[in-house]
Amino acid sequence: MGYIKCEALEETGYVVLDRYNQELDPKEWLDIEYVDWKSSGDTRFAPLASAKGEIECNGFWNHKPPRTDKDGVWIPSQVEKAPILTRRAQEPGANVGRCRVIELQPTPYGECLYNLHQDDNNRLNPDGTGWVVRGFFNLTDDKDSFFVLRENRTDPEGEVRIALPAGAQLIIDTQRLWHAATHVGTDPRYCLITSWTSGPELDAYIEKHNGVNRVESVHVPQDVLEAGYAEQARKDAARAAYYAAKGQAEVRAMSEA
Ligand SMILES: [Fe+2]
Repeated sequence: MGYIKCEALEETGYVVLDRYNQELDPKEWLDIEYVDWKSSGDTRFAPLASAKGEIECNGFWNHKPPRTDKDGVWIPSQVEKAPILTRRAQEPGANVGRCRVIELQPTPYGECLYNLHQDDNNRLNPDGTGWVVRGFFNLTDDKDSFFVLRENRTDPEGEVRIALPAGAQLIIDTQRLWHAATHVGTDPRYCLITSWTSGPELDAYIEKHNGVNRVESVHVPQDVLEAGYAEQARKDAARAAYYAAKGQAEVRAMSEA
């Protein structure tokens, strides 16, 4: 039967929407409560919707009963502090699973490449229903930072680098594409991440906000790119050696983040 997917994401796996006027917002993302949650990179998360409406970030399939990343329960104490972020996550009208703000400390390009991962968005998702994708609304004005997307984790061919100024809005099939953020600067980056179910509502939202499935990659000097590739290879080798020393097979599991 197959999943219901967004036509707009079919070719490249991502769309970039019109920028949102972030300057109108109070800084809601600084008021909400964060929890330590190990993702790719040095991060904390502040959930707005979770499996049971509690302030935690675990995959819905790790709860009892296990279920897929749909029908997230809004957390009253967080929603109260972040009404605009909540409204933005709800605006498409698509089903929301997990919804949270990520706080990411500065992450150079090479480390970002090491952090590249695919999300486990569709575990337990029944065939014939909507495919879960993710929305990324950049909250801080990270003018020199960018999101990296690849079809193959260790092959830079076709890499896409999407700029992350305040108000940048991306929707990405993060189960298909390897992804991570390069964040330069000294302050953390904040981004609202929402699991949405593909379907007519999300299609309409992408169309309304002029989603495009190709953008020009952020320019990065060749020497920085190559230093990044080398750093990724070095860290991958160190990781493999660590697991070999423990006598365990290396498993690069899909991330929950
Ligand atoms: Fe991810």
